Amino acid sequence: MTTTNAIPVWDRFVRLFHWLLVAAFFTAYLVEDDLLGVHAWAGYLVFSLVVLRLAWGVVGSRHARFTDFVRRPREVLGYLQSTLSGKARRHLGHNPAGGAMVVVLIGSLLATTVLGMLLLGSEPGNNLYGFVSGVGLAGETGEEALEETHELFANFTLALVGLHVAGVLFSSLAHRENLVRAMITGRKRPNRPEEEQA
Ligand code: HEM
Repeated sequence: MTTTNAIPVWDRFVRLFHWLLVAAFFTAYLVEDDLLGVHAWAGYLVFSLVVLRLAWGVVGSRHARFTDFVRRPREVLGYLQSTLSGKARRHLGHNPAGGAMVVVLIGSLLATTVLGMLLLGSEPGNNLYGFVSGVGLAGETGEEALEETHELFANFTLALVGLHVAGVLFSSLAHRENLVRAMITGRKRPNRPEEEQA
């Protein structure tokens, strides 16, 4: 470790969560239902990771907590405006736009995986079949609706991931730091004097 990247920002849970999520999401997305068993287990992993992350957002370390990065829409817009004018402030944790993206990503991943589980449950014999048929989603029309909405959310999540990675690269260039490396090592350099908040 060098003193230039001396500040611990992302704890071990956040880093493990992130890279397992990347692997599980792309596995589920790429295999689709060609390998339904693999697709379903990758989906269960995504769901479990997201549920654990929700709990960690309450009890986790400083920059993992929702209170550290969930901001009002007005603040997010203000941050985006300052980005456009090249004056975005550097944040050690998620910046306000990044924080908003985390919330939307987590919401979309939850919607995708819950719909996927309901879709599996529309098959007779599945543990969830009783519930799915109870709410009227087990017939052909219900199954079709579930399948289309599940795919819609999966594609929406993929579009969010594209924006997320673009935001990460943009922010890395703007502040001359490697955010991807920080999500691996957990560490970042401290703010320079000119980067401190006025
Ligand atoms: C290979 C592509 C990806 C790269 C390089 C990447 C990189 C990063 C980085 C650098 C951060 C920290 C951002 C910051 O400094 O504020 C982050 C956070 C995050 N990323 Fe990604 N990401 C990738 C793919 C994904 C995918 C596929 C998902 C979800 C499906 C995802 C979900 C998240 C979430 C939820 C966080 C917040 C982490 C937390 O606070 O627990 N990322 N990502």
